[in-house]
Amino acid sequence: MDLIVRRAVLAHGHPAGHATVDIGIESGRIVAVEPHIDTQADAQAREVIDAGGMLVSAPFVDAHFHMDATLSYGLPRVNASGTLLEGIALWGELKPHLTQEALVERALQYCDWAVARGLLAIRSHVDVCDERLLAVEALLEVKRRVAPYLDLQLVAFPQDGVLRSPGAFDNLKRAIAMGVDVVGGIPHFERTMADGAESVRLLCEFAAEKGLRVDMHCDESDDPLSRHIETLAAQTHRLGLHGRVTGSHLTSMHSMDNYYVSKLIPLIRESGVSAIANPLINITLQGRADTYPKRRGMTRVPELMAAGVTVAFGHDCVMDPWYSFGSGDMLEVAHMGLHVAQMTGVDATRACFDAVTVNPAQILGLEGYGIAPGCAANLVVLDARDPIEAIRLRAARLAVVSRGRVVSRQPPQRASLTLDGRPGSVDFKLHR
Ligand code: FE2
Repeated sequence: MDLIVRRAVLAHGHPAGHATVDIGIESGRIVAVEPHIDTQADAQAREVIDAGGMLVSAPFVDAHFHMDATLSYGLPRVNASGTLLEGIALWGELKPHLTQEALVERALQYCDWAVARGLLAIRSHVDVCDERLLAVEALLEVKRRVAPYLDLQLVAFPQDGVLRSPGAFDNLKRAIAMGVDVVGGIPHFERTMADGAESVRLLCEFAAEKGLRVDMHCDESDDPLSRHIETLAAQTHRLGLHGRVTGSHLTSMHSMDNYYVSKLIPLIRESGVSAIANPLINITLQGRADTYPKRRGMTRVPELMAAGVTVAFGHDCVMDPWYSFGSGDMLEVAHMGLHVAQMTGVDATRACFDAVTVNPAQILGLEGYGIAPGCAANLVVLDARDPIEAIRLRAARLAVVSRGRVVSRQPPQRASLTLDGRPGSVDFKLHR
């Protein structure tokens, strides 16, 4: 074995009677997950990591991001109102000034942050409403360059509307031909509800014809009558795209009539459509026109989960025209998600950890994801004893392993104290 991780706690349990497991890695694959790997193997291993009873998880996965806009904060100005619409306008101002070199450099820098956070797979939308397809070329280049350590999946995203923006559908088709993986859309931004529904039909038919996945920005609105998710589910069902389609944001569901939702959620489940909430962004962008009470705007996460829908939390934005904060930390995303959704029970909190790990991995269709023999050797050692503590502390990523190689290390979080009669340090964990 090349690498052995000893005394690991796993997020989803162990063989009965064992508190920890050892994980053996060889040629980029996990080859053993056992209570005790023979210590004689240590001599042959290139490296041995002692997790010391800390949580070892498959890496974080972000199912919804915009890598073409990330780290552009302040270019050409900041979003003064902080609203979605000023963000879209600001992005429109920035687009003509984008250069491929700057796009690539910002995206690579973000991927460095991601790796350090144990975030090793990202689905990024890329705006195709630009004749030059500059961002598409840039992110395809980034995808190629990060491939040795990070899975980057790209969505052809017609930011200004596939029908509303001249040439957008042709650009989207060109982007797919160039190697972009997933078909995107934004039905609520089309001129009318009817155009929105038509865009969903058009894009789903194109995806079916090409055998591709679909991920649409869908109903990112506080309007309870924005019901494009219904059309997306119906088209998915009609075209037999079950398991390959995702609705991102779905914020209008927050404000919908409960009786209507009682029909809608089973329809989403029946069609095998997945859902992605973006808690940091939804809580800051939605409800902007409200006085008080002010709506939270995030979609109905616990209800969708209870119905058996696969739900992920995405980061969406980091330091871009829409959002000035973030650092690629999916534990921060889960932390916000559980607060907004009031998912503070034990099982609910664990479900929020799944929403930034196994659930988005399923949505992306990642192969070999997990901590089990045969899986790809991608993992993160966290400075926490379980998923709940990991979220609470936004725990340090003590070691990040990608393709069987340690690619990042971080010291544990500690503070030294100089108080008379008190301990010399704290690690923010509960010790009894
Ligand atoms: Fe988005």
